[in-house]
Amino acid sequence: MTAPILRLKSDLRKAVAGWKAKGEVVGVVPTMGALHQGHLSLVRAAKEACDRVIVTIFVNPKQFNNPADLENYPRTEHEDAQKLQPFEVDAIYVPGPDQIYPDGFATNVSVGGVTEMMEGEKRPGHFDGVATVVTKLFLQSQADKAFFGNKDYQQLQLVKRLARDLDIPVEVIGCPTIREEDGLAMSSRNLLLSDRARVVAPALNAAMTQAAAQIQDGADVQTVLAEASAQVIAEGFVDVEYIELRSVGTLEPMTRLSEPARLLAAANLAGVRLIDNIAVDPV
Ligand code: PAJ
Repeated sequence: MTAPILRLKSDLRKAVAGWKAKGEVVGVVPTMGALHQGHLSLVRAAKEACDRVIVTIFVNPKQFNNPADLENYPRTEHEDAQKLQPFEVDAIYVPGPDQIYPDGFATNVSVGGVTEMMEGEKRPGHFDGVATVVTKLFLQSQADKAFFGNKDYQQLQLVKRLARDLDIPVEVIGCPTIREEDGLAMSSRNLLLSDRARVVAPALNAAMTQAAAQIQDGADVQTVLAEASAQVIAEGFVDVEYIELRSVGTLEPMTRLSEPARLLAAANLAGVRLIDNIAVDPV
């Protein structure tokens, strides 16, 4: 049976109230649609941990700092509903803009700390948009548990921080990044890659994996990262916006591998911006 598509927050609230009255644990998987195996892995995790699962699909204009990016973002609601069918989720919440940003909307949720670097620096306003919409989706869904991918590692840290800081009673659960066989992290944006660019795209993860191993072997961090960046460009990327070793959780910069770390990068390939990150643990 296809899950009901709910378009109104009042309908979502009604459904959730019924589940909660029975003591059921409610999970939410927020997405912007164009679902792929990465999203579906979150749905799987939610199904395992919760009695009821809501998948939300909303292409959030407030988090796009580039109008062309918003316009080009794939919108595939029908296919998304079909992909969700085997999972038997309890609701697909597809709010119209008026359900999220009603006339006169004037509130901004802004999280400090983990947002003030990398993606936050490169995409002004992006994380405020994410924080605002995620807060609204948490409050509208009243979910007990929420599932996010490590793929957007900085976003995951932001969401954990905001739930803690605002006393939103939701457990934020991070899930592993799902990759194509050649290592490319799955992303809705991969649909925008030309055939040629798609061949080059895995070079980012390949360079990061190699850099992580060198850092674990004790090589100088700055040298390794500079070489990785040069390698990605030599393979055909236009530029590397950043490639950085950061401490897990706080995302403070690290110049040597003194504690568990994350290697994070953003790079541009033929008009498509790709991000990725991997764990680098001291051996
Ligand atoms: P979106 O890019 O659609 O991603 C929805 C969720 O799927 C996020 O938690 C993201 O980290 C996760 N995800 C994406 N690719 C993944 C992969 N390859 N493996 C595992 N998980 C993956 O992130 C957003 O939407 C938005 O910012 C949102 C949180 C919905 C707020 O608008």
